[in-house]
Amino acid sequence: MQPKVLIERQELENTVRRLAAQINKDYREKKPVLIAVLKGAFIFLADLVRHLDLKLEVEFVCLSSYGQSRESKGEVKLVQGLCSNIRNRDVIIIEDIIDTGITTDFLLNYLNQQEPSSIRICVLISKPSRRKVPIIINYLGFEVADRFIVGYGLDWDENFRHLPELYSIEDE
Ligand code: IMP
Ligand code: MG
Repeated sequence: MQPKVLIERQELENTVRRLAAQINKDYREKKPVLIAVLKGAFIFLADLVRHLDLKLEVEFVCLSSYGQSRESKGEVKLVQGLCSNIRNRDVIIIEDIIDTGITTDFLLNYLNQQEPSSIRICVLISKPSRRKVPIIINYLGFEVADRFIVGYGLDWDENFRHLPELYSIEDE
């Protein structure tokens, strides 16, 4: 099983800049809280925030859904919740990938209970053909077919997160 480059560094960088430009425009007068979902979003977040020309705060939540499998078990666990109060704040969720949508749906429920004034979703990769729960994505990097993606923060059983580009894993 060999990871194959799917999206190269330059294209990743252009896409992160495009998303940052959209967020800069939409949140000019605001001070959003960016909530990144660990672990997968750590590289995307780090690159994105360095192109944001805004007042902002960064928070993390840690969710787990997969274990060692490549299929979501449809069971999401909140491993680490928020450390700060988001009531009446403008929240932007920063996600690595939306596959079935189950994880993001769980996160939206968790965050909505805390009564933020708005929530938008910024995600690097979406696999629309796999969706089980509809999710409205406000800022989208790439749409990909039904393949397993690693690198740039995304793992397969905790491997490959450190790879600088996005790769797809194909069964041989
Ligand atoms: P969902 O709940 O099925 O949408 O899955 C969301 C989570 O599963 C993501 O936050 C990732 O951690 C993981 N995931 C889904 N698809 C992939 C993939 O292709 N590569 C790596 N992780 C994935
Ligand atoms: Mg994962």
